Amino acid sequence: MLFIYASMCGIIGYVGNKSAVQILLDGLTRLEYRGYDSAGIATIDNGQFRVLRKVGRVENLINAANQRNIGGYIGIGHTRWATHGVVSEKNAHPHCSVHGLFSIVHNGVIENYESTKEFLLSRGFTFESETDSEVLANLIEYHFNKEQDSENKFLKSVQKALFHVRGTYGLAVLCEDYPGEMIVARKSSPILLGIGSGEMFVASDASAIVQHTRDIVYLNDREIARLTPLDFSITTLHNENVDVVKCELDWHVEDANREGYEHYMLKEIFEQPRALENAMRGRFSDDLSTAKFGGLRMTTRELRQVDRLLFCACGTAWIACLVAEYLIEKYARIPVEVEYASEFRYRNSPLDKNTLVFVISQSGETLDTMAALQEAKRKGFRTLAITNVVGSTIARESDGGIYQHSGPEIGVASTKAFTAQICIAAMLALYLGRMRDMSFEEGILFVKALDDLPGIIERVLAQSEKIEKIAEKYAQCDDMLFLGRQAMFPIALEGALKLKEISYMHSEGYPAAEMKHGPIALISEKCPCFFLATQGHILAKNIANIQEVRSRHARVIAVAAEGSELVDKFVDDLILVPDVHPALQPIVATIPVQLFAYYIAKFRGCDIDKPRNLAKSVTVE
Ligand code: F6R
Repeated sequence: MLFIYASMCGIIGYVGNKSAVQILLDGLTRLEYRGYDSAGIATIDNGQFRVLRKVGRVENLINAANQRNIGGYIGIGHTRWATHGVVSEKNAHPHCSVHGLFSIVHNGVIENYESTKEFLLSRGFTFESETDSEVLANLIEYHFNKEQDSENKFLKSVQKALFHVRGTYGLAVLCEDYPGEMIVARKSSPILLGIGSGEMFVASDASAIVQHTRDIVYLNDREIARLTPLDFSITTLHNENVDVVKCELDWHVEDANREGYEHYMLKEIFEQPRALENAMRGRFSDDLSTAKFGGLRMTTRELRQVDRLLFCACGTAWIACLVAEYLIEKYARIPVEVEYASEFRYRNSPLDKNTLVFVISQSGETLDTMAALQEAKRKGFRTLAITNVVGSTIARESDGGIYQHSGPEIGVASTKAFTAQICIAAMLALYLGRMRDMSFEEGILFVKALDDLPGIIERVLAQSEKIEKIAEKYAQCDDMLFLGRQAMFPIALEGALKLKEISYMHSEGYPAAEMKHGPIALISEKCPCFFLATQGHILAKNIANIQEVRSRHARVIAVAAEGSELVDKFVDDLILVPDVHPALQPIVATIPVQLFAYYIAKFRGCDIDKPRNLAKSVTVE
């Protein structure tokens, strides 16, 4: 049986007047959070390909490159996250065509690669790997051999190969016969061009090239581009003209550095006050009684017609949707449904005709979220997106939306993007609420509470040393339960998700009272419980649940609001956080669970920014 070695990975490309290798290696280092199973580069040096690939981290590739003298002013690079099959040097990108004429880096899946491979085998092509990407490299060579000689021969052969394939791709191709030219194309896998002076860049994600240029052009699906050092041109695959839209990145290279923090995750946790400020900046009405959003492209009248909201997302962003459900139902009194994007896309759920569909995605590139958005559009629903990456596919495909402005999130575990998403959900609850039953006074108090939030978060962050000490006590456990009621239930889910993904400790999140209906069987002195108990009006209920687990010998850590010091009597470790407007408690309570997961992972010696098996942006199904 053949495997499809699909990849969702990172791509970088360079053509210009500088030595390509260093630019490629720097770019791959920045892209490593997209995948870290293997990495490789190819350049054209004095008319000949130089290819280097290594299994494991980009560091291995850099060490190998330092021992060789790889020249060339044009090159492509790739860092891979394998979805099927083994990680090996043969399966690492770039892949070359059989006669070494083409080299390709590819993200995505070529669905008809088996039949294409058979076709090519019957015409004498041979294969070194079992990847679909190598099939594509050879298909390009096949068409090149049949093509008449012309200035456009390289471009045309890539076009013809892409006509033939089914599936998804973001790709960059080099041809030995065209040493000053690169062809790139995209379908459902992001590719952007960076425009420099006398040089051009290609990347799957802007963080790879932001140190060189902030002038960006995003390719759309089924577009193909030709790049030379001085110029670029873009058409559709069918040679139709394309209106090229240039945009400027709204962040700088410093935003993508660690700035002295041991991990990106820690830096991003500590960036949350600033990220929240950015999410709110310019988004309050002049009378400070409600929020406003420039990008929704819907009038108040249209928004008032909405009977129901549907939120779709994956992972942590899906958890942000759950918080949105609590907040919007409570403050705007609009029924909200939340679906996993991967489920929604195939479920065909009946939706009320006045439903407004929201998707949330930090990267704006998650394939399942994109597919859910497309399904909602196909059914004629208006779609809005909450995304962090300006110009990302989801941002561009939706009818309108709200940018988070969190700055680049590099740590694989989402932190600052999550709290910014909840902050936007709270502002939406305020905005939609003020169109309905929320009074002016309530609106004023809500805005004031939002405005105070960054300072409050600073105060919670100031407890990081205390949280580190608590984490040390629990770092060697095998299991943990996170429990919370109402809007703290999603935060319990997020605590459990953060802990399992970066520390590999088994953890689950449950509504605190639901714990009695099954998970209580897990409880023993070896399975501590982490309670999120910041809500005053149900504090007694949470304490009752705490006592239930304590009587089964569980150790308990709790987050409670200042003023609830009595909780200390019932728990082993108490983290007190400022008592804030109920709508903002989920954000405040998130900080301790993020720090707790971070320090546990650190005590367990885990690779926090690159947890095993994960990748930052999941662009395959
Ligand atoms: C968890 C995490 C993932 C992402 C999910 C969706 O820490 O980062 O669960 O939240 O893959 O990603 P986006 O938001 O980019 O669509």
